[in-house]
Amino acid sequence: MSTLEAPDKSRAQIKERTLRKDNWRLYPLMTLVIFTTWVVYATIRAFWGSAFFVEEYHYLTPFYSPCVNDACGPAAEFGTFLPESTRGWIPFGAVSLPFLLLFRLTCYYYRKAYYRSYWASPPACAVQEPHKKYSGERRFPLIGQNLHRYFWLFAFLISLINTWDAVRAFHGEDGGFGIGLGTVIIWANVILLWGYTLSCHSCRHIVGGRLKNFSKHPVRYWMWGQVSKLNERHGQYALITLGSLMLTDLYVALVASETISDLRFFN
Ligand code: FES
Repeated sequence: MSTLEAPDKSRAQIKERTLRKDNWRLYPLMTLVIFTTWVVYATIRAFWGSAFFVEEYHYLTPFYSPCVNDACGPAAEFGTFLPESTRGWIPFGAVSLPFLLLFRLTCYYYRKAYYRSYWASPPACAVQEPHKKYSGERRFPLIGQNLHRYFWLFAFLISLINTWDAVRAFHGEDGGFGIGLGTVIIWANVILLWGYTLSCHSCRHIVGGRLKNFSKHPVRYWMWGQVSKLNERHGQYALITLGSLMLTDLYVALVASETISDLRFFN
């Protein structure tokens, strides 16, 4: 008879909630504060309906890209289908925002973060959670997390649009070429967004998954290697892009509302 026994399916029966002595509450608490602040800011700005575009330098905030309301004016480079009367009710970026929200909501990094912070499921490693049952992500609604790979495709397309916005931000006062602090901020944000999008676990699978061997697919193997390197920092990109998105939007809003002037480096 084997000396090994099948592991008990119930959880470890210990009285203490956890044996950890470190400050494990800090991570979920900080995440809660950062995410809540960001969501409140982004929601207000998405419905704001003004100070989203600096026509002079062609700075468009990523929260309004692509801009599809009739009120977008010259910021609408991909067509409009929302009448101006929907201002304040439907965000100008209504085409991209739902997908970007779902993309981040189903992201592996964010799942870990908000499961811990908002649901305490579990609040940290080796800390007992309050929930009695656990069905994982095999049932509705959490089974929807598996749609992440499809949201990635939309996020990829939106990153292309953001890149176009960044190219357009090389715009000078006389309509020619120009560079200002806004151009630098918009480009930094786009590069970080690409870092986040390309470091996605689904992207890694799309690039290098479902292959029997790499030796017959050297290009995909190389791409998989590059994505794998980015993937190591996926959590950092996820967090940093929250800051870069907020900063880019804030800068565009301040310049567009003439609260500050853009710092110009060239034209
Ligand atoms: S796992 Fe985070 S974006 Fe895909």
